[in-house]
Amino acid sequence: MQKVTIIPGDGIGPEVMGATLRILAAAGSPLEWEEVEAGEKVIEREGTPLPISVLDSIKRNKVALKGPITTPVGKGFKSVNVTLRKELNLYANLRPVKNLPNVRTRFENVDLVVVRENTEDLYVGIERQVEEGRAEAIKIISADASRRIAHFAFEYAKMYNRKKVTAVHKANILKLTDGLFLECCKEVSRDYPQVNFDEKIVDNMCMQLVQFPESFDILVMPNLYGDILSDLAAGLVGGLGLVPGANIGDNAAVFEAVHGSAPDIAGMNKANPIALLLSACMMLDYLKYQDISQRIRAAVDQVLLEGQFITSDLGGSSSTNEITEAIMAKL
Ligand code: NAI
Ligand code: MG
Repeated sequence: MQKVTIIPGDGIGPEVMGATLRILAAAGSPLEWEEVEAGEKVIEREGTPLPISVLDSIKRNKVALKGPITTPVGKGFKSVNVTLRKELNLYANLRPVKNLPNVRTRFENVDLVVVRENTEDLYVGIERQVEEGRAEAIKIISADASRRIAHFAFEYAKMYNRKKVTAVHKANILKLTDGLFLECCKEVSRDYPQVNFDEKIVDNMCMQLVQFPESFDILVMPNLYGDILSDLAAGLVGGLGLVPGANIGDNAAVFEAVHGSAPDIAGMNKANPIALLLSACMMLDYLKYQDISQRIRAAVDQVLLEGQFITSDLGGSSSTNEITEAIMAKL
């Protein structure tokens, strides 16, 4: 039986993870869980937010479902999320962003896939204080990692019959780093003549995403732009409560929502569990249980369509538990 590592995480993590696991059980998921703890709450006990045993569990099971983990701003420990992705070489961050039924937004026909390079760029976290009042950070871009993520984007396009890949960059200013990324994307695009290739400078991309989101398909980009544009794209379809994600490597995959630990609503039974639930559906697809993931997605669509049990991020007043039970009832 396939065992999956479960990391509930910080803030709203345990609430949305609890909801997701209940729904998976109701859908007849055959997966077995191995629950481990990472994040703020283990620091005191383990001396680190990311104990070796957590990494070992993921390496053993090769698949994990993860809640958000808090990262202190401007001080404190390094991001557990970034460390996990680097340690396990989860080089591709995949975030499909689509309108869901009956979710009010100003944008229609949004069906984007953000493919974010997950191992380098400014997220290598090499910073130093040069002197008082002056600091610097290093941005790393390599041809290998750029080609690898471009291949991932085009392979995804091929597999899911997508029409266009747009590379997002700032190569007009960052001529060597983003210039290399763009060159690698262009080079890889030549291997996929059946998929259109296009490129956009990231600032213009932000404007066009808000003006004409329907005209984009797959977006491939370095780590930082991918982080920022993922949240922007989530905003187009109703917010972070809805958008799932996957971190994929050759030897392991970690599934998690785009959102963070949402300390403003943690512990209030208010969080929307759909983003983590749809991440779990991506995990089921990855493990070839598409029959189960399709049933869960259909149940989510039905609950949204009926509009009776909607969490406050989408303008409703239902609790995490209420929407969870509504989805379970549809199964
Ligand atoms: P956030 O994504 O946690 O929250 C942004 C806003 O969206 C908040 O108003 C929050 O209430 C709302 N929101 C997020 N998820 C929601 C959900 N499921 N249902 C309803 N509303 C939801 O971003 P923020 O506040 O910038 O970060 C909080 C912490 O999370 C930080 O420590 C950050 O480092 C961490 N973080 C962790 C991530 C991960 O584990 N992969 C990803 C992003 C942030
Ligand atoms: Mg982010």
